[in-house]
Amino acid sequence: MPFPLNDRLGRTHRSLRISIIDKCDLRCTYCMPEDQRFLQREELMTREEIATITRLFVQRYGITKVRLTGGEPLVRPDAVGIVRDLSGLGVSLGLTTNALSLHKHLDALIEAGLRSINISLDTFDAERFKQIARRDGFGTVWANIRSAMSRGLRVKVNMVVMRGVNDDEILRFMELTREHPVHVRFIEFMPFAGNHWGRDRVYTFAEMLGHIGSVHSFEKLNDDPHSTAKAYRVPGWPGTFAVISTVTEPFCGDCDRIRLTAEGRMRNCLFAREETDLLSALRRGEDIAPLIEANVIAKHAMLGGLPQFRPERQEEVLHDLSARPMVSIGG
Ligand code: 5AD
Ligand code: SF4
Repeated sequence: MPFPLNDRLGRTHRSLRISIIDKCDLRCTYCMPEDQRFLQREELMTREEIATITRLFVQRYGITKVRLTGGEPLVRPDAVGIVRDLSGLGVSLGLTTNALSLHKHLDALIEAGLRSINISLDTFDAERFKQIARRDGFGTVWANIRSAMSRGLRVKVNMVVMRGVNDDEILRFMELTREHPVHVRFIEFMPFAGNHWGRDRVYTFAEMLGHIGSVHSFEKLNDDPHSTAKAYRVPGWPGTFAVISTVTEPFCGDCDRIRLTAEGRMRNCLFAREETDLLSALRRGEDIAPLIEANVIAKHAMLGGLPQFRPERQEEVLHDLSARPMVSIGG
């Protein structure tokens, strides 16, 4: 019987996100600071270390969901091997990718056992893509999203909505759910180190629903109790959509997520300011179980202990952020 990984509020943790590399082949402004430095290869968890640590989480602690993230996970040459190792553990396995190099790996990923994929796309305009991602790539990403859908993968498209940047494309993204059995997630712009966040740049959950509702009538779907997203659909359309309202309506009450960075440090929250170095302990041959349990016990009730993201608290939020930018936390 697995030992449940509970925090001090009694929340049981069953979902693990693993960043397998901190590098990315795009440089989105909301995620990567201009001067980002990357880890050396020997600092990253090896494929074997990822398998060892994940097996412990699954077998000892009953983790049932694992998501591989980055940076961009497909930048890592052994990404497909890692998917194969973890899909053998009997968990529900997902991958979050920008899909820029997905065409090179799609067949191998499916063959390795991947069934579900989250793809980041913030715009349908190639010029705007270049401004947001600081690299060209819209055509490739969009072609790869279409192939992932046509190969029968469960596809979620993540759009980070930023006021004055891409909020005029929400209805274009809604059209995806009319045309395809895809799940589109509109994400409120969240603050991380070096990402030029401001409360006034957040296009809110309420604004999104108001905007969509002015054109389409939609209905609420049931959410998984641990879901970070509030899901909806336009009746009769094959796709669904959701809003991730971390900024204006955080959903930490039922949080069941923990995270592992590419250098093997455990974080109990996206916004955590403390980390536990599991990899160094593992390399010294120590038992990492007590470290894992202590990390989860210390989890804050909400937002890693940050003040709520109200406009009048903006200075405090920016001051208290973790020094780690999103690109090296993993989405
Ligand atoms: N706010 C909201 N979502 C973000 N992501 C990255 N940075 C941010 C941010 N500042 C999301 C991306 C991607 C996933 C890896 O994390 O959309 O889907
Ligand atoms: Fe969980 Fe932290 Fe996200 Fe809240 S902010 S849902 S506690 S990871």
